[in-house]
Amino acid sequence: MPWFRVSAAAVFLTLLTGAVAQAANATQCQSTLTPAGAPPNNTKVLILGGGMAGVIAARTLHQQGINDFVIVEAKHVFGGRMSQTTFGANGSYVIEKGANWIHGTQTGSGPANPVWELAKNHSLKTVETHLFSNITFFDYNGPNNYSDKFEASLDAFDKARALAGQRWQQNQTDLDLRSAYNYLGVSPKTPQEQACEYYQIDYDASQTSSLASAWNYNYTFDPDVGYSDVDLLSVDPRGFACIVQAEAATFLNTSQVLFNQTVENITYSQSGVTVQTTSGYNLTADHALVTFSIGVLQGTDVSFEPKLPDWKVEAISSIEMPVYTKIFLQFEKKFWFDTEIGLYADQQKGRYPVWQSLDYPGIYPGSGIIFVTVTGDYADYLEQLNKNTTQVQLEVMEVLRKMYPNAPDPIDIFLPIWGRAPLFRGSYSSWGASFIPQHAYNLSAPVNGHLWFAGEGTSLKYFGRSSYSLP
Ligand SMILES: Cc1cc2nc3c(=O)[nH]c(=O)nc-3n(C[C@H](O)[C@H](O)[C@H](O)COP(=O)(O)OP(=O)(O)OC[C@H]3O[C@@H](n4cnc5c(N)ncnc54)[C@H](O)[C@@H]3O)c2cc1C
Ligand SMILES: *[C@@H]1O[C@H](CO)[C@@H](O)[C@H](O)[C@H]1NC(C)=O
Ligand SMILES: *[C@@H]1O[C@H](CO)[C@@H](O)[C@H](O)[C@H]1NC(C)=O
Ligand SMILES: *[C@@H]1O[C@H](CO)[C@@H](O)[C@H](O)[C@H]1NC(C)=O
Ligand SMILES: *[C@@H]1O[C@H](CO)[C@@H](O)[C@H](O)[C@H]1NC(C)=O
Ligand SMILES: *[C@@H]1O[C@H](CO)[C@@H](O)[C@H](O)[C@H]1NC(C)=O
Ligand SMILES: *[C@@H]1O[C@H](CO)[C@@H](O)[C@H](O)[C@H]1NC(C)=O
Ligand SMILES: *[C@@H]1O[C@H](CO)[C@@H](O)[C@H](O)[C@H]1NC(C)=O
Ligand SMILES: *[C@@H]1O[C@H](CO)[C@@H](O)[C@H](O)[C@H]1NC(C)=O
Ligand SMILES: *[C@@H]1O[C@H](CO)[C@@H](O)[C@H](O)[C@H]1NC(C)=O
Ligand SMILES: *[C@@H]1O[C@H](CO)[C@@H](O)[C@H](O)[C@H]1NC(C)=O
Ligand SMILES: *[C@@H]1O[C@H](CO)[C@@H](O)[C@H](O)[C@H]1NC(C)=O
Ligand SMILES: *[C@@H]1O[C@H](CO)[C@@H](O)[C@H](O)[C@H]1NC(C)=O
Repeated sequence: MPWFRVSAAAVFLTLLTGAVAQAANATQCQSTLTPAGAPPNNTKVLILGGGMAGVIAARTLHQQGINDFVIVEAKHVFGGRMSQTTFGANGSYVIEKGANWIHGTQTGSGPANPVWELAKNHSLKTVETHLFSNITFFDYNGPNNYSDKFEASLDAFDKARALAGQRWQQNQTDLDLRSAYNYLGVSPKTPQEQACEYYQIDYDASQTSSLASAWNYNYTFDPDVGYSDVDLLSVDPRGFACIVQAEAATFLNTSQVLFNQTVENITYSQSGVTVQTTSGYNLTADHALVTFSIGVLQGTDVSFEPKLPDWKVEAISSIEMPVYTKIFLQFEKKFWFDTEIGLYADQQKGRYPVWQSLDYPGIYPGSGIIFVTVTGDYADYLEQLNKNTTQVQLEVMEVLRKMYPNAPDPIDIFLPIWGRAPLFRGSYSSWGASFIPQHAYNLSAPVNGHLWFAGEGTSLKYFGRSSYSLP
């Protein structure tokens, strides 16, 4: 699921004046909704989770004239995997720990990305990025211009998308991307070629379904069936999650929100649903809409009584929830490439490969901030270091010094934890090699007419993104 793939070079949409995000503004957007006394009970609907999916589901009910619902959220803020923090020696820059991009806007009068519309409605500050055309290339010997290999990998992904479409038309089985590439005669051998492929296919998701990846890409970036190939980076001091929080504040009242309540048990029957939280609340409702991440559903944090039916368990088990980790570094001053991205090819595939400069015109010029992204097993390993940033820094700097031998030590470092976070258990979902569309339909299907499912992972078209999908 290559989120980052864009082709068009364009100018910045937004030219920010004073792009430094003031920490004092980061909370400005958070909803001040506080539950009043006893939690509401016996409602028509319980919406479990207050991320993009939960809040937009609530809005949809509200628009349909149904206001007898409660959103139950473990955190005390809306947004879920859209979540910012302040960073830097001064604590003066707002960085996004999770989602940062709006992928796809609109082509002509074609379909508009609803996330982009929300962003416009709440005046989100964004900047257009050119992640596939504004790159400096490195390997373990320093700068090395392998842009020809990069162009070839762009081409290979287009061919894989076309192949997936063709095979679908002809009722042939899905292939994982690696197999599709082999079939097309594309087989990267060198570290440089491998780094290009890694970047192309969403950071080493080579076991990913080529069909699901192609749909995901097409419904987002292909103007024929999707939005557009424009990627907008949120640089809003209020945080990207502001679009969820500010939207929530337009229609919710305090009795419709229950923060700080972690759901532990969901009991469902023909007569309705009871949800038990870790602090002992039992809430009943006619219906519950579960919007927890696939990672949460795969684990044992939440139990269902009776157990979910086999077809549902199979669907939940078939989609994967890998980890994607950004490591933010701040230096006294910028000493690196002037492009948006630096792509680094190590002899060990996946070792600190993708570097993105935030000390960039329109983002945070003068900030000295850059971040590097790792995924999959490598990200998992970093999480096992358990926030030992000393160790992480040693490893990251070893790579950065292959790119820049005289690189000084950073003055600040931060990495968010997603895989081991009990409320997420991974970053975003991805369909594996055993993908069949029925699994996706079964993921979003209700269980007995009372238990419903929504959220990133349940969307066949937009999984992995901050889009929204409703039952
Ligand atoms: C590192 C990273 C980078 C990403 N980058 C992008 C990007 O650039 N662009 C993009 O479009 N998408 C990106 N995504 C994906 C995007 O963030 C998600 O697809 C989207 O935010 C999911 O929304 P959701 O409502 O489905 O789920 P969530 O945001 O996970 O919402 C579920 C809510 O349920 C709550 N919850 C979980 N368990 C319980 C419980 N037991 N009891 C009560 N509450 C609970 C959680 O706190 C959370 O608020 C990224 C994600 C990550 C992690
Ligand atoms: C907060 O943001 C607003 C507008 O974006 C700005 O006018 C104001 O000065 C900011 N406040 C602080 C404390 O930076
Ligand atoms: C939730 O918990 C946080 C942190 O413990 C606290 O600051 C906040 O006031 C609580 N909010 C509600 C609505 O209980
Ligand atoms: C944005 O606001 C307009 C006008 O209020 C509204 O019609 C539209 O539905 C909103 N879009 C989204 C995605 O919320
Ligand atoms: C990258 O973008 C910057 C700013 O738009 C531009 O000055 C530069 O020429 C671009 N570089 C490449 C290699 O496209
Ligand atoms: C890298 O090589 C390509 C052609 O192979 C060329 O167009 C580009 O300008 C080169 N970039 C640099 C920074 O030398
Ligand atoms: C994706 O779009 C490409 C280009 O339009 C098309 O050839 C291909 O069939 C599509 N893939 C799928 C799986 O729909
Ligand atoms: C694919 O299967 C569908 C449904 O079974 C059938 O209608 C269609 O003709 C098949 N297409 C091909 C190319 O075999
Ligand atoms: C909610 O109602 C149910 C049944 O009507 C009851 O068992 C439960 O204790 C109530 N919960 C709270 C928190 O009042
Ligand atoms: C909540 O429900 C559970 C399971 O039915 C029960 O064991 C527990 O006593 C109930 N708690 C309260 C406070 O009613
Ligand atoms: C509630 O869920 C927890 C965690 O999944 C589990 O350990 C516990 O046995 C469940 N309790 C009931 C009453 O189902
Ligand atoms: C941090 O603050 C100092 C003085 O308060 C300022 O000179 C410096 O530019 C700031 N650094 C960054 C990275 O914002
Ligand atoms: C963190 O990593 C450093 C460098 O490897 C090591 O010296 C230190 O003992 C580690 N700290 C902890 C708490 O594990």
